[in-house]
Amino acid sequence: MKSGQQGQQQGQQQGRTEPLDKHPRYEKIKDLNSGTFGFVQLARDRDTGETWAVKFIERGDKITKYVEREIMNHQCLVHPHIVQFREVFLTPSHLSIVMEYAPGGDMFEYVVKKNGLREDEARWFFQQLIVGLDYCHRMGVVNRDIKLENTLLDSSPRPLVKICDFGYSKHEKFQSAPGSRVGTPAYLAPEVILTTKGKTYDGKIADIWSCGVMLYVMLVGAYPFERPEDKHDNQKLQKMIQRILHVDYHIPSSVRTSEDCRDLLSKILVADPSKRITIEEIYNHPWYLKGLPPGVREMNDRMQAQPEGLQSKEEIKRLVEEARHVGVGAPGYANPVETDEYIDDAMYDEGGLDYND
Ligand code: ADE
Repeated sequence: MKSGQQGQQQGQQQGRTEPLDKHPRYEKIKDLNSGTFGFVQLARDRDTGETWAVKFIERGDKITKYVEREIMNHQCLVHPHIVQFREVFLTPSHLSIVMEYAPGGDMFEYVVKKNGLREDEARWFFQQLIVGLDYCHRMGVVNRDIKLENTLLDSSPRPLVKICDFGYSKHEKFQSAPGSRVGTPAYLAPEVILTTKGKTYDGKIADIWSCGVMLYVMLVGAYPFERPEDKHDNQKLQKMIQRILHVDYHIPSSVRTSEDCRDLLSKILVADPSKRITIEEIYNHPWYLKGLPPGVREMNDRMQAQPEGLQSKEEIKRLVEEARHVGVGAPGYANPVETDEYIDDAMYDEGGLDYND
């Protein structure tokens, strides 16, 4: 099974500037990973000694509307199953997004390493995923790119799930333009594939489909709508899309799953979004309820208050706007304006596939 992120990782790390060189506050510890968006490093805050993951996106044209959405949608979320946003800052070369470090790696690696998970373990992750997604939806944030690679793990013996990427997310209140079709092909819901420009679909219901694909991949260690016999890339995608539209999947007989598990999967992977199971109904499904720790269902009722962040929304927007321009002045931190900003920050220490959107 191949991750959508593979193949881009190495080349991007060579020959780039080190954005944290001489940074007054954050010190690089190591590279974590990279993708089309940019790259992520583990860094230490010199003041507090805390470690953070810092995502770097090159200044200039790479600062798209998705980057702005990613940050604005992420910054308002505070939840145990969502990687915590901390702040954004600028270096001369990059826009930098500081967030909680999830040391357990991503769920794709985890599932591949285990060659698929036992049903109980898959349930444990799925329970958390649904609680995290339910919280996003209650906060008006639709993820639109739910997948194993965007779900990180902490270092607990029974790892906790942390949804980490809001690059394709949308806020129901602010962005209502119809016709956007985003996500990763293997996880796309039929109605998303069928959407034509000018038409809308309910992103929350499409997110539930993607959770069903995640559940399948956790159990089977393969994608539900991909077959090993599909050889060529183009043909492979076309065939996969046809199977998604016909909900043509099966669970291999070698994979042991309970009746309840197959029942839940069959209620999530439903082509007609109006007939697909809702999050509320998933909460009440016997497979989901099994072994659910007490209080989990009620958790989101207590989680909706707007957090007190380090940075205001206005400040974040200003920095993102500034990042659209490549840093001026000498390289490094000789530029007096930026140096001042860093000092201010320190003092106030107190931030797929895109068809047509
Ligand atoms: N890769 C991308 N974001 C990450 C994070 N927050 N923690 C660990 N690895 C990551």
